[in-house]
Amino acid sequence: SPSNSNGDSRHLDAPKPPPLRSKSWFSSTAEPLQTSIYLERYQNYGLTPRELMSGKPIIGIAQTGSDLAPCNRHHIELAKRVRDGIRTAGAIAFEFPTHPIQETGRRPTATLDRNLAYLGLVELLHGYPIDGVVLLTGCDKTTPACLMAAATLVRLTELLSPLLDKTNQHAHRNQNLPAICMNVGPMLNGHDGSQTLGSGTIAWKAEELYATGKIDFEQMVKMVSLGAPSVGHCNTMGTASTMNALAEALGMALPGSSAIPAPYKERGQCAYETGQQIVEMVRADRKPSDILTRPAFENAIRVNSAIGGSTNAPIHLNAIARHIGLELTNDDWYRVGFEVPLLLNMQPAGQYLGEDYYQAGGCPAIMALLLEKGLLWPDALTANGRTIGENVRGTVSKLPDVVRPFSKALRPNAGFINLSGSLFDSAILKVSTIGPYFQQKFLSNPRDPNAFEGRAVVFDGPEDFRRNIDDPSLGIDDKCILVMRGCGPIGFPGAAETVNMRPPSYLLKAGCEGLPCIGDGRQSGTSASPSILNASPEAAAGGNLAILESGDTIRVDLNTRRCDVLISAAEVRRRRERLEAAGGFQYPASQTPWQEIYRQETGQLSEGMIVKRAAKYLNVAGR
Ligand code: FES
Ligand code: MG
Repeated sequence: SPSNSNGDSRHLDAPKPPPLRSKSWFSSTAEPLQTSIYLERYQNYGLTPRELMSGKPIIGIAQTGSDLAPCNRHHIELAKRVRDGIRTAGAIAFEFPTHPIQETGRRPTATLDRNLAYLGLVELLHGYPIDGVVLLTGCDKTTPACLMAAATLVRLTELLSPLLDKTNQHAHRNQNLPAICMNVGPMLNGHDGSQTLGSGTIAWKAEELYATGKIDFEQMVKMVSLGAPSVGHCNTMGTASTMNALAEALGMALPGSSAIPAPYKERGQCAYETGQQIVEMVRADRKPSDILTRPAFENAIRVNSAIGGSTNAPIHLNAIARHIGLELTNDDWYRVGFEVPLLLNMQPAGQYLGEDYYQAGGCPAIMALLLEKGLLWPDALTANGRTIGENVRGTVSKLPDVVRPFSKALRPNAGFINLSGSLFDSAILKVSTIGPYFQQKFLSNPRDPNAFEGRAVVFDGPEDFRRNIDDPSLGIDDKCILVMRGCGPIGFPGAAETVNMRPPSYLLKAGCEGLPCIGDGRQSGTSASPSILNASPEAAAGGNLAILESGDTIRVDLNTRRCDVLISAAEVRRRRERLEAAGGFQYPASQTPWQEIYRQETGQLSEGMIVKRAAKYLNVAGR
């Protein structure tokens, strides 16, 4: 068997794999009419009944690319090579579309689609004759949506198999499908002739130049476009590069695959190899339940710190873990990941872009460094049947300024701090985005070097911010803390990426490089702002951000990991009563049926923003 060809004896004594799920569609004589009908219609693209009955595995290809989803659109090409790999390995490919999730095009926010795509994908994988699946990932939420579905199928198997044994519903056996991710890959590096420009990250820079009148609209469009020169997802370490690195760190993608730029020939070669690999996984019965273990998630958290990964990663990784029944929390992120140093010099935390990261050795080069320091669980199994240790040990960085040794780390403690206090139970801060300006301005009191206080200026959602930030009557100075509320999963359905707020233009002109920001929404992974974000519970779910007022003093203490508003408990009660008498925290009405359902069903950001009723059905945390 192919699983033995790598010298791994793990599967030698393994029980014989269960029969293929697809057999019960195409080779069952128990219900001859039904079987004939299944065989009849799948012939209309040239498959023969003999092929369908031959016992060849049917491999699904979950196509996340389309004209609506340009970050993943190159998968339409790559899927052809995935199919070639599947065919070569002796199986049959069934490609199918998933609900698109495009970060830059979807209003009000693409996060709304993560749970929708997830629910849809579970139904497809459950209800069709599929024996294994290639998950084509890329743009931010496509990767977690796919992995949440793979994790859910594991739970379904655990929940349903006792029932199925009694009723012999063989058609629905073995939900725990072998699954493998393949990233579309980052774009080529952006350039403007003199310097590199990173997609996403350059947009935040352009916004500031525009606000201070240094560029006009046309120059802004040009500048932002130069950051994104080819097919592929963002070339910075935003949420897309992050989530695909984590998929690889979890063991759910081929080693070295996540960082290959979309247009490189190696990307097409990787598509072919991924197609071959999934067929081997079906034959070896190597499933997500073998791969998505607690050690795998802890490996992913440590990799996230070392690469300077996105602040969206805890939301998505916690969600994936919960769907398989593991309760991963933001405290785990602090405990496991905080002290890992930043080893990857890539925007927004560093300097370089995706092509440099790939040429330096990609995720295996990072993992090899962590492994050497005992910071990874080496025995975690991966998609190719080998362990993480076997896959990455000895990989050397080929560009030591890009993937740095520990002795030249860009900074220590690159993980997230999990804060709590009187304003929320949990919010995270990416300490690695604290630059010299912020350090000097807010964290340089010699008697209290890791704490700061500031006067709150509160905005109710992104429109309030855009309309009023430059209004001098708000009296914002360079000691203020900007607060954004009403943009959590319920308040702004899906949770808006709006917590990283620029200072007023008059402060920017005077040399202010940024103000501390706090909010119940998210922040783009391509932003380098040291915001306190993902605050849970949000204002719309009863969190105390709802009773904060402009002018209140907020204290943030990184030593005690607390964030508090300095008002008395009696004042908190008074404001609560006033808010309730006024009908509670107000937010805009839903605009579609799904937005309304989403709001009723969503959990909070700290728990992965998962569908509460799905968690209840699956009997996992977050219900
Ligand atoms: Fe799709 Fe960044 S917007 S990857
Ligand atoms: Mg984003």
